[in-house]
Amino acid sequence: MQHKQSKVLFGRAMDVLVEGCSSASRGPMNYKPFPPYIREGRGSRVWDVDGNEYIDWQLSFGCLPMGHAHPKIVEVIQQEVAGGTHFATALEVEVETAELMVSMLPHIDKVRFANTGTEACMTGVRMARGITGKRKILKFEGHYHGWYDGLLVSSNPQYVTSLGHPNDPVRIPDSSGLTPGSWEDTLVCVWNDVEALERVLRSHGHEIACIVMEGVMSNMGVIPPNPGYLKAVEALCREFEVLFYLDETVTGFRVAPGGVAELYGLKPDIVTYGKALGQGFPIAAIAGPNHIMESIEYGKVLHYGSHNAPRLGLFATKTMLEEMSRDNYAGYKKISEIGNQMTERLNQAAADTGQNMRVQNIGSMFHPVFTDLDEITNYRDFCQTVNLAKYADFSRKMRDQGVFFSGNKILHNLSCTEHTQADIDTSIEAAGNALEQMSDNERI
Ligand SMILES: Cc1ncc(COP(=O)(O)O)c(C=O)c1O
Repeated sequence: MQHKQSKVLFGRAMDVLVEGCSSASRGPMNYKPFPPYIREGRGSRVWDVDGNEYIDWQLSFGCLPMGHAHPKIVEVIQQEVAGGTHFATALEVEVETAELMVSMLPHIDKVRFANTGTEACMTGVRMARGITGKRKILKFEGHYHGWYDGLLVSSNPQYVTSLGHPNDPVRIPDSSGLTPGSWEDTLVCVWNDVEALERVLRSHGHEIACIVMEGVMSNMGVIPPNPGYLKAVEALCREFEVLFYLDETVTGFRVAPGGVAELYGLKPDIVTYGKALGQGFPIAAIAGPNHIMESIEYGKVLHYGSHNAPRLGLFATKTMLEEMSRDNYAGYKKISEIGNQMTERLNQAAADTGQNMRVQNIGSMFHPVFTDLDEITNYRDFCQTVNLAKYADFSRKMRDQGVFFSGNKILHNLSCTEHTQADIDTSIEAAGNALEQMSDNERI
């Protein structure tokens, strides 16, 4: 595989784009010495500017449940673009899309559209504070909710020695440029540990507006919730009168039609969606029951945005929801089955080659980590035991064989409706080769 054109583009890009791209995750931080510049995608495949073809399991950070350039999406967008891209008033497609969402999500009454997960999460937190009049919020170590200042705390992997006692995690800001005040009211707790949460709520419950969490830790590979954990969190929220804010930016419209809330039978107070919702267009949403959503009426709690509810994106969302729901949600069943098969067979490939690779998944979201533990159930084990460099080596070896696994070492891989059995078989064969090529001294 040669990358002459990508190299040339990277040289040009470095003169005009920071890191040669528009987000650290896409550039040399994860693709050394330079990223493959992608020219186009169709179905489960992408092609770079050198003509190299890849089976894509990264799928635009989870934004493409129906893969690239799905014919239905292309048809609808081609037809609708001629009718204009954006209007500063309300749209029929906005109503239709919200109706579809509400019909799929029994725990919500209303939707407000935004553009990105970050904006939605920023609004969710503001709503929680506005509704309760309380100032503090509680998030979890290793959970990421976008790049709003108040949530940029303890989201990245760290040396365990810097994390402090689990009863009182050291809060680590994720960026320069944050004022102390912006995260002063952001408490941090360890995740997947009911007692730890109860302890924090006993001391601070009366000051906490909401508990914000991912239902599946998905910015540290894929770490599922322990059995009963999410229900216990919900019950504690009710007991301590703290709003339960489930951030389904990754899991929404992916792990099940109703996301984590459906899978685990939850009734969150505030929910945010993004990624898969837009099928590649920047569409996000804040949702919840009426008594919560009325808080943003007429700017009581402010949520504005020139680009909210972009017309073409909504057509993509509506089409995606219709297609994925067809035949009793067959699309969701399909992507989950593919994710389950990938997980099982990657684990088998690891066992066959004696590598300490473990793959965890929730349906269509799966991720290989290199660790000597049998299972990763929390952030601290991830930080302490997972060999990220080894994953980087593995994903590079996969890419060299035309299989695109997440370049970002802490994110995850995903399936879409367009992955075929041949894609799975080819990817598993490539994984076997990659694992074989990895150095002997790293085997168990
Ligand atoms: C759980 C979660 N919430 C929020 C966000 C932010 O979404 P966006 O990148 O669309 O701003 C992300 C992004 O990865 C996420 O994983």
